[in-house]
Amino acid sequence: MQKILVTGGAGYIGSHTVVELLQAGYKPVIVDNFSNSEERSLEGIKAIVGRDITCHRIDCTDAAELRQVFEQEQTIVGIIHFAAYKAVGESVEKPLMYYHNNVGSLVTLLQVMQEFNVQKLVFSSSCTVYGIPEALPVTEQTPVQKANSPYGNTKKVCEEILTDLANSGNSNIKSIALRYFNPIGAHPSAHIGELPLGVPNNLVPFITQTAAGIREQITVFGDDYDTPDGTCIRDYVHVVDLAKAHVVAIERLLQNKAEAIEFFNVGTGQGNTVLEAIHAFERATGVKLNYKIGPRRVGDVPKIYADVTKATEELGFKTTSTLEEAMKSAWDWQLHLQKSTAKL
Ligand code: UD1
Repeated sequence: MQKILVTGGAGYIGSHTVVELLQAGYKPVIVDNFSNSEERSLEGIKAIVGRDITCHRIDCTDAAELRQVFEQEQTIVGIIHFAAYKAVGESVEKPLMYYHNNVGSLVTLLQVMQEFNVQKLVFSSSCTVYGIPEALPVTEQTPVQKANSPYGNTKKVCEEILTDLANSGNSNIKSIALRYFNPIGAHPSAHIGELPLGVPNNLVPFITQTAAGIREQITVFGDDYDTPDGTCIRDYVHVVDLAKAHVVAIERLLQNKAEAIEFFNVGTGQGNTVLEAIHAFERATGVKLNYKIGPRRVGDVPKIYADVTKATEELGFKTTSTLEEAMKSAWDWQLHLQKSTAKL
């Protein structure tokens, strides 16, 4: 079995990808510092796949520790690098922490990869690199724009680092940057899912926590945008579909089909408004949501959704889950969390 190192493998998208890698016949090895994830996600993975997954509890910005992992694991054929901070507001307050962690960990990882001659990397990027796009849907040719937060800039800078490395003529490393749209939902088993620390920033964890009574009400951030119902449009992609995109991306690299650097949009190709998302949740679960319309959130992109032609044609990527199914899985996960917390 080919060994794939998954940094941030205990996190939300990372844990789902570990499961999909295993089910596709790879041997995932997790690296995580648990700064924004919990041990119980390892238990969840185990409950799904029926075995323990090796996990190194280290920080990817620490070259010495990372080197030790490469030495110990020996036969790593590829890396999927998720480990990063992702809270937009926090990044505005603590930009250095974001640059150190997100950019620092990529640079360190690339250096250690070079030392150990590991040549394949899948990188977690974001549709945030497109800023406020002029035309929709966005393709990979849509111009990248100035980031509107330090978090967004770390993704842009990391893509530039990978591009510079690819163009240097000095490196054997090939990378694929996956530009995620809005990942939502959880594994259908409800053993793994998103574990937001504190008050969630993102829409779907806020929806499920409100439905569960943990939050009193959810505020829809603005209904005066130029969209059919006035609320923002996003492309919500089921996290299991997104996880599978990583498997096909690493496969492409391992089969030497990739250029030195490639970018792919990973979304559904469909845009939904915030109100549509809320109503999809209500339909899928039968739970009524207590929501109100509030002011716009500073920095929000009015509308963005993906053109996924490139990922479909070149990666063979396709989504299989509907918005309702994703919402139902998010809700099942929320219920599971409540049951397991009640037991503690
Ligand atoms: C945000 C980031 C994005 C990042 C992603 C990862 C911004 C502008 N973008 O995406 O760069 O990659 O998180 O975490 O912050 N909404 C509500 N009420 C809520 C929460 C959200 O109406 O309580 C709306 C938002 O206005 C938005 C949509 O729901 O229209 C989705 O929001 P969210 O889940 O935070 O994702 P993004 O803002 O798209």
